[in-house]
Amino acid sequence: MARSRLLSCWTLLFSLAILFGCLIIPGVTVKHENFKKCDQSGFCKRNRAHADDVSAKGSSFTSPYELDTFELAFENGQLSGNILKTVSPTEKKKLPLLISFFESGVARVTVDEAKRLTGDIEIRHGSQARKERYNEAESWVIVGGLELSKSATFSPEDGYTKVLYGPNNTYEAVIRHYPFSVEFNRDGQTHVQLNNKNFLNVEHWRRKVEAPTEGEQDVLGDQEDESTWWEETFGGNTDSKPRGPESVGLDITFTGYNHVFGIPEHADSLSLRETRGGPGNHEEPYRMYNSDVFEYELNSPMTLYGSIPLMQAHRKDSTVGVFWLNAAETWVDIVKSKTDTQTHWFSEAGQLDVFVFLGPSPSDISRKYGELTGYTQLPQQFAIAYHQCRWNYVTDEDVKEVDRNFDKYQIPYDVIWLDIEYLDDRKYFTWDPLTFPNPIGMEEQLDDSERKLVVIIDPHIKNQEKFDISKELKSKGLATKNKDGDIYEGWCWPGSSNWIDCFNPAAIKWWIGLFKYDRFKGTLPNVFIWNDMNEPSVFNGPETTMPKDNLHHGNWEHRDVHNVNGITFVNATYQAMLERKKGEIRRPFILTRSFYAGAQRTSAMWTGDNQATWEHLAMSLPMVLNNGISGYPFAGADVGGFFHNPSKELLTRWYQTGIWYPFFRAHAHIDTRRREPYLIQEPFRSIITQAIRLRYQLLPAWYTAFHEASVNGTPIVRPQFYVHPSDEAGFAIDDQLYLGSTGILAKPVVSEDATAVDIYIADDEKYYDYYDYTVYQGAGKKHSVPAPIEKVPVLMQGGHVIPRKDRPRRSSGLMKYDPYTLVVVLDKNGQAEGTLYVDDGETFDYQRGGYIHRRFRFEGSTLSSEDIATHGPQTAAYLNTIAGVRVERVVVIDAPKEWQDRTTVTVIEDGAKASSSASLEYHAQGDGKAPYVVVKNPNVGISKAWRIEF
Ligand code: GLC
Repeated sequence: MARSRLLSCWTLLFSLAILFGCLIIPGVTVKHENFKKCDQSGFCKRNRAHADDVSAKGSSFTSPYELDTFELAFENGQLSGNILKTVSPTEKKKLPLLISFFESGVARVTVDEAKRLTGDIEIRHGSQARKERYNEAESWVIVGGLELSKSATFSPEDGYTKVLYGPNNTYEAVIRHYPFSVEFNRDGQTHVQLNNKNFLNVEHWRRKVEAPTEGEQDVLGDQEDESTWWEETFGGNTDSKPRGPESVGLDITFTGYNHVFGIPEHADSLSLRETRGGPGNHEEPYRMYNSDVFEYELNSPMTLYGSIPLMQAHRKDSTVGVFWLNAAETWVDIVKSKTDTQTHWFSEAGQLDVFVFLGPSPSDISRKYGELTGYTQLPQQFAIAYHQCRWNYVTDEDVKEVDRNFDKYQIPYDVIWLDIEYLDDRKYFTWDPLTFPNPIGMEEQLDDSERKLVVIIDPHIKNQEKFDISKELKSKGLATKNKDGDIYEGWCWPGSSNWIDCFNPAAIKWWIGLFKYDRFKGTLPNVFIWNDMNEPSVFNGPETTMPKDNLHHGNWEHRDVHNVNGITFVNATYQAMLERKKGEIRRPFILTRSFYAGAQRTSAMWTGDNQATWEHLAMSLPMVLNNGISGYPFAGADVGGFFHNPSKELLTRWYQTGIWYPFFRAHAHIDTRRREPYLIQEPFRSIITQAIRLRYQLLPAWYTAFHEASVNGTPIVRPQFYVHPSDEAGFAIDDQLYLGSTGILAKPVVSEDATAVDIYIADDEKYYDYYDYTVYQGAGKKHSVPAPIEKVPVLMQGGHVIPRKDRPRRSSGLMKYDPYTLVVVLDKNGQAEGTLYVDDGETFDYQRGGYIHRRFRFEGSTLSSEDIATHGPQTAAYLNTIAGVRVERVVVIDAPKEWQDRTTVTVIEDGAKASSSASLEYHAQGDGKAPYVVVKNPNVGISKAWRIEF
């Protein structure tokens, strides 16, 4: 968050203080004092202390948790019963347990609290907060994959119960009765264990008593420290905690695994570090509490704007994972032993709800997690092209001028963005009448070259009597409430604000209405939306967000729902975008800053307010890769860095890196100098232009990768371990990436003055330089690849066919009917294969067959194109629209020597009366570069079946 334009004295003073601070302390860093450390968060401190206590006691620790075997039942793939928690010699608390085994091979363990379910508790301070543990996270997050296993079998044994499930019942869950624990086995080996360390902790409801009596004392500690149970104060804000302590915690051990990945969003390495101190380790657990962290720091487990509590553990040839479905503040400790990775998860409130995946491959995790939480929405074509943003384009004329300049300098771009200054007095759904008098004219100019506009709409609504939207929000009772049930008021960009409560169906309905063209005046169909500050960011709130005892629809406390809050808002905007006009159905595009599991269904994300430093550039890669393996691959970072001014070299390298982000957008803070690529002096301008054009050239490959993500959850850019799960030396590599399944391997330069990069190659395939086909080969080692400033280091792995469009255009929309180039990169056996997915790039017709999906194969001496689409009612109509789109060039890399004297190839297209021929040029090369051939204009239809014989 950047605060320089807040229109209040308070903020002005605050800004001056910051400025003054900057003058005396060179380099700005995150304000640690604004965010809790574990020992400032009651439940974090308690759960860590519990873990320490259990570990210290070792075998003398007496676990209070026991499975009640009398009530155990197994029906339709579900085991139900109660865990009994002994809280005194005479009292046990009932914790209902449900273990579900799904057809997919995923298992789910849910623990609740009987007294809370039946409402048999008292809430303090007269709060209206709900009595149950929050049980609606599922309704925001889970969309499928819950079909219960029909074949799972159950066998009670002495002291434990065994369930066989999964593919051919080859998975085994062993549920131990006392102390309660579960182990998950596959192929006769234990992979995941729950509570084998006895850190399980379900803080049962208790009545506050001034001095604890004998009977009330918890067996976990004789003299429990109650200081964090009832009220907690941080940074001057007091949390009234009307339900007292209610956290849930559990240890999860990945047996035999040394690398764990996931749990975004953190600015840290892909392979997660240990968190209990020691050289190179963190001292703090990884935290997930969606927050607007001003000037966030790198290599840190601090929380950021979004969270996805999915963790996967990887070892040679095996990947397993867990998904911790809880919307409250959550922390994760990680400790590694020689053989295992032991993790400890705890959330402040809610049910204990954990899904266990037994892999065995990284893509199995992607697919099964996607079955549960949904796959990436296939975006519109424009959304994966280049986005030009800054805070702020100051007038509609300014936007038009920038648009013209891109054309003048022949730099492609698809989308221009408006940040909060387009608004009239920071009121969403309005335009500043002085600076944006003619938004429609501006949008029409953009539309002339198929370009789009994205405008920002945040969840805080200016609290102003004469503002109609504010009036409606309040009078209809659609705003989030404070702990006393009154409309919550806080401070954000507009000054005093109220927040729409998108947990309320009536609020969603109202929100949808606001986007209709006749309501949100000045918008055309080429306008899309940016949802920011939805953690929610509240400048004067505790940890820059809402008080935890605020109340949402249904009287859930903000504490219960904090981490899903952001996506409820995005979902509402998504619905609104679908319904702007009856009959006009286009795929929405929404960028969100805050997110949770499931956000991939509706939106793209970016990594928030980074800085124009080499370190931030470098960190963008593990962050984007981590999002990809965590089911939310439509991710990017502000190109150029948000805060401060990048040097020309840094900006250039950032573009060369940004073209590999699935979401590719330049953005800059209002106080930075203008840095549109055409403003940068030569040679940098041309170099940046070339980088952006490389992105556009590869858009067919990108779109195909997005399609794959949308049907099976695979990341759009993939880290080394994901592509080479057997190669241990590559597991921790997070500075190079593969684009989808194209075999394109990029290693962006992220350091100053570099002239070469070392690219790690895992396998013994040949890899070819993207531009000159220099061959790199040799498994398990790094290869030095030249990377002068004008070069983006990219290799192509042998064995792939890469679809491209080589004609430079102003926008991707203008490339729609351009011909294709197919680059055939032969593997060591002289073969190659690749796919191409194409649809209209805007509508949902693809869901009814309106697309083409081709497989290209090179075998023997024939390149062929085969249909792998599933046809539907829209297929024929779509095929008609692209009937004229042809392949204009085929390049075969590492072409056999025998071809050197050939001058033609034979082309056979299905349905053609006779075969034809096309010319072939052989280039021998030498000097470490592979020979290649170019087939000019084979003239086959991209949507047709054909063969080209060499
Ligand atoms: C937040 C966003 C940033 C945006 C600014 C003004 O700081 O992260 O991208 O420019 O708000 O809206």
